[in-house]
Amino acid sequence: MSVISSQNVNAIIRKTLGVINANIMVHGEIVGYMLYKMLEYEQKYSEQELLDYTMLGILHDIGLYREEGLNNVADFETEDTFWTHSIYGFLFLKYLSPIGDRAEIVLYHHLDYNRFGLVKSKYEHVTECLALADKMDNFMRRKVASMEPDYFTKYRDTKFSGQAMDLFMKAEKRYGIMANLADGSFKDELNDILSRQTFSEKYKKGFLEMLVYTIDFRSEHTVVHTMSTVNFAEQLGRLMRIGARELRDLYYGALLHDLGKIAIPLNILESPGRLSDEEMRVMKAHVQITEMILSGLVNEDVLQIAIRHHEKLDGTGYHRGLTEKDLTLPQQIVAVADILSALYGKRSYKGSFDSDLIKKILNEDADNHKISKSTVDCLMRNYDSVIKKYEEQKGETVGLYLNIKQQYEEISKKFEGIVQ
Ligand SMILES: [Fe+2]
Ligand SMILES: [Fe+2]
Ligand SMILES: [Fe+2]
Repeated sequence: MSVISSQNVNAIIRKTLGVINANIMVHGEIVGYMLYKMLEYEQKYSEQELLDYTMLGILHDIGLYREEGLNNVADFETEDTFWTHSIYGFLFLKYLSPIGDRAEIVLYHHLDYNRFGLVKSKYEHVTECLALADKMDNFMRRKVASMEPDYFTKYRDTKFSGQAMDLFMKAEKRYGIMANLADGSFKDELNDILSRQTFSEKYKKGFLEMLVYTIDFRSEHTVVHTMSTVNFAEQLGRLMRIGARELRDLYYGALLHDLGKIAIPLNILESPGRLSDEEMRVMKAHVQITEMILSGLVNEDVLQIAIRHHEKLDGTGYHRGLTEKDLTLPQQIVAVADILSALYGKRSYKGSFDSDLIKKILNEDADNHKISKSTVDCLMRNYDSVIKKYEEQKGETVGLYLNIKQQYEEISKKFEGIVQ
């Protein structure tokens, strides 16, 4: 049995991003649907291409999610975010998703049609279709204030491609796109498209990683924490010789363990001091939010690993206050990995601890029956090699994160002047 079914990958993405801002998510689905229908009309793409383009359509504004204070804003696509969110969206998709080679479609989705000559893209046609779908939804459904009433007559072949418009009209005639949007039936059709093609494990894993790292992106500590928790958990799982299936579940459980932090305000996530009782209460809610998002969408073992990482063997943890007899070894391993990652990493309120202090704290927790003694003992025997491996491997994950930040600067400089 797989960890997660194909259509549930999209459901998780939708639900998670919907927690941050439902408007952007719905906009993405509508644009993804319109794009799909336009390309379907042309009948020249393979199923895999159609699937990839539809996903790109759904995720075209994913670069917006790194911005703080997005909750409930209605007018998210304003001109001053055009270039920023296009570049971030492009970089997230390029480096973190399984459809990276098509990511430049997102990079240019706000490029005016008459400026396309300034860039070279083999995806120009699809990009123009996406740009048109985006403008149509912004104009018709969302009624974005900056678009004048005669936008679609005035700016044909300057701001948008007339050819893409004609294609949309033909597709509209054949499929009744607008009616499907109005009565909501497009949602079933969209689910259909996304489940018709079975995603490979790699495709699913790629999208989940992209989701987690994209939303963690707003807080460097959180990104690095997730990445090191995954690494430590996998290493501990191997050292503890758990089975292949458990190892796989451990990976996904660790990857998703702090997903619920998307709903926690940055000032709490990045708080430089100790959290007040009230702030702590908010922070602890990330476990329930993770549970709310993932319930029914990932296999039960993965879910339980993800939501039990703050439970303690003596029943003093949260959010259920479970005790040792309820907690499986993989669940206990992620709890240890989570603490190790927090102690080893830099946080807003502390620097990295030295190894003696980290070992002392972990041993005390194990002796006080808070966390798994056998896992901590195993870690103590292998401490230096675990840290060394993590340091060697972190280039692939943490390095990617830093690379995205750097590339953002480079691309914005390069394209200054191309996009107004
Ligand atoms: Fe956009
Ligand atoms: Fe958009
Ligand atoms: Fe947590």
